[in-house]
Amino acid sequence: MQREQKQPVLITGSTSGIGLAIAHTMARAGHAIMLHGLTSPEEGEDLQRQFRSEYDIACGFSNADIATETGCAQLAADTREALGNPGILVNNAGVQHTAETHEFPAEQWQNILAINLSAAFFLTRDLLPDMRANDWGRIVNISSVHGLVASQQKAAYCAAKHGLIGLTKVVALENADRGITANAICPGWVETPLIQPQIEAIAREENIDIEAARTQLIGAKQPLPHATNPEAIGELVLYLCGEFARTITGTSLPVDGGWTAQ
Ligand SMILES: NC(=O)c1ccc[n+]([C@@H]2O[C@H](COP(=O)([O-])OP(=O)(O)OC[C@H]3O[C@@H](n4cnc5c(N)ncnc54)[C@H](O)[C@@H]3O)[C@@H](O)[C@H]2O)c1
Repeated sequence: MQREQKQPVLITGSTSGIGLAIAHTMARAGHAIMLHGLTSPEEGEDLQRQFRSEYDIACGFSNADIATETGCAQLAADTREALGNPGILVNNAGVQHTAETHEFPAEQWQNILAINLSAAFFLTRDLLPDMRANDWGRIVNISSVHGLVASQQKAAYCAAKHGLIGLTKVVALENADRGITANAICPGWVETPLIQPQIEAIAREENIDIEAARTQLIGAKQPLPHATNPEAIGELVLYLCGEFARTITGTSLPVDGGWTAQ
C-alpha cells in the first residue's frame, strides 16, 4: 500500500538536471510526482518505476513537447489523467543558445521564448482555475540570475528569464487572496548538462582542460567559486511549497554564489 500522498506536483523538464533533482526532493517528502521531459517512453517508464519503488508514491510521465500551446495542453491533460489536478506547478524546463544579438538565429529566439517563458504561461493559465477553486496552490518558476542581470550572447535567454519573473509577480498579485503563491528561483551556475556546452566551448577556445574551463566559467561571474548542487534547488522548492512559506510570494530568490550581490 502506498503511503499517504501529498499534493501532486507537475515539474516540467524533470528528466534531467535541476528538474530531476526537484522531483527526487519532492518525492522523498511524499508528493505524487508528474515527471516530464523530452525522453523516450521507455526511459520515462524506467524513471517512473524507480520513483515508485524508491519513494512509495504515485508517479506519472509525459514527453509532451512544450514548445507549443498544444504541447502544454497535452502535458496538463497527461498530468490530470495520471494524478488528478496538481496543486503544485514547477515551471523548470529550459533551453539555452548563445550568440551575439546581431547574429542571433530567429529560430533559436522563438524556441527559447516558447520553452522558457510561454510554456510557463500556458501551464499556469491551465492549472490556476483548479488551484483557485481549492483555495490553495504553489507555483515555482525556475528563472535564473539572467532574470535579474544580463550577460553577453544571451539575448533570448535573458529576455525569457526576465519575462518569467514578471509573469511570477503578476500571478502572485492576482492570486494572493486565494491561498496561492508564485515565486521565482534564480540560480547562478548549477552542475547540470545545460552548462556543459559552455564549459566545453571555453576549453576549446582557450586550449585548456575541462576542469580549468569549469573553474574559469564559474569564477568569471560568481565570487563563491562553486556551482550549486541541483539538490539545493530541490530543497528550496520544497520549502516554498510548505506552510511556513505561505506569505512568501512574488519573490525572485537568487541562489547564485554572490553573482547578483556585486
Ligand atoms: N544549469 C544551470 O546552471 C542553470 C542556471 C540557472 C537557471 N537554470 C534553469 O534551470 C532549468 C533547468 O535547467 P537544467 O540545467 O536542469 O537543464 P537540463 O538541460 O539538464 O534539463 C532541461 C529539461 O528540460 C526538458 N526540455 C527541454 N526542452 C523541452 C521541450 N521543448 N519540451 C519538453 N521538455 C523540454 C529536457 O527534456 C530536460 O528534462 C532551466 O530553466 C534553466 O534555464 C539552469
